[in-house]
Amino acid sequence: MFHLNAAEPQQLTEYLQEKGWLGPDETIQTAAKPGEGNMNYVLRIDTGARTFIVKQSRPYVEKYPQVPAPAERVLVEGAFYRKTASNAAIRETMPALLGLDPDNYILVLEDLGEARDFTFLYQQGAVLHPEQLTALTTYMQALHESFVQPEPTDEVLANRAMRTLNHEHIFYFPYLEDNGFDLDQVLPGLQELSMPYRRDNDLKKRIQELGTTYLSDGKYLLHGDYYPGSWLNTSGGVKVIDPEFCFYGHREFDAGVLLAHLYLSEQDSGLPAVFQTAYAAYSDLNQRLLSGFTGVEIMRRLIGLAQLPLTSDLATRRELLALAHQLIMNHEV
Ligand SMILES: Nc1ncnc2c1ncn2[C@@H]1O[C@H](COP(=O)(O)OP(=O)(O)OP(=O)(O)O)[C@@H](O)[C@H]1O
Ligand SMILES: [Mg+2]
Repeated sequence: MFHLNAAEPQQLTEYLQEKGWLGPDETIQTAAKPGEGNMNYVLRIDTGARTFIVKQSRPYVEKYPQVPAPAERVLVEGAFYRKTASNAAIRETMPALLGLDPDNYILVLEDLGEARDFTFLYQQGAVLHPEQLTALTTYMQALHESFVQPEPTDEVLANRAMRTLNHEHIFYFPYLEDNGFDLDQVLPGLQELSMPYRRDNDLKKRIQELGTTYLSDGKYLLHGDYYPGSWLNTSGGVKVIDPEFCFYGHREFDAGVLLAHLYLSEQDSGLPAVFQTAYAAYSDLNQRLLSGFTGVEIMRRLIGLAQLPLTSDLATRRELLALAHQLIMNHEV
């Protein structure tokens, strides 16, 4: 197994040349981390004349090697790029797939440039512009509209191992009364705020139902991790990356995750309506499922392990938790 390693440029050059991803006369000037990521080993290769991205998945989480993760996830990501490139709107919004090495779990992608992702939205006052939200929604609409589950089921894009992992983090772990994760380390007082929800059996029952729906197969191909960390703000407009959690499921999941992050990043209260208008199939969505997934994503990002670089104070998080609870239990908000 070839191990991608920026500290070994000679082996890296030989590997890329052997694969034909680097010409015989090309050399690597720099190989460096292009941006923040936890799950995989990602490098931007610069030859001096051009740049591209290489990404390797290993049988563990890159940032926490003691935590196992499905090794084949980058191959699922490759399959997603390969499949969806047939749609012009998707192709133009994502990097082109330049290569895939299934033996070594390595993916090669077009470099979208030194763009920030949208996690800056969690800073106070940061704004997602309506036209950016419209672009993000148009992408989602094109994806859901163009790719429906084939017969027989596409077992690669069903992505069951990654779904199991995500299910644990979204629907299960945050609600264990004693999960060993001290939320006061995130923000003092957060542990106490979380306890009523973690002791609420009606809430936990509904979250379990939503989790079962998440795990069940659905008709539509989803991005599966449609939040600001998967959106890049490039000079060529808003782009989308990192579909490693993709699967055929219920559209309400992608939509709910996107909406949740509008609330988590305290965007203008008019933005959900922008989404509703831009997502042509909005009236076909199951509203109970949509608000359930929205609420679950808000709650797990506040009290689960996959924390965001939030800057909101305790009072705001209290309000967000109350909103999430209402959304999950489907009271009017
Ligand atoms: N095609 C690309 N063009 C430009 N930059 C990219 C590209 N792919 C990835 N990056 C940069 O590298 C970072 C990490 O990439 P990516 O999100 O795919 O990795 P990851 O390990 O799956 O991350 P995470 O743990 O958040 O899931 C991105 O946030 C982005 O800054
Ligand atoms: Mg990722």
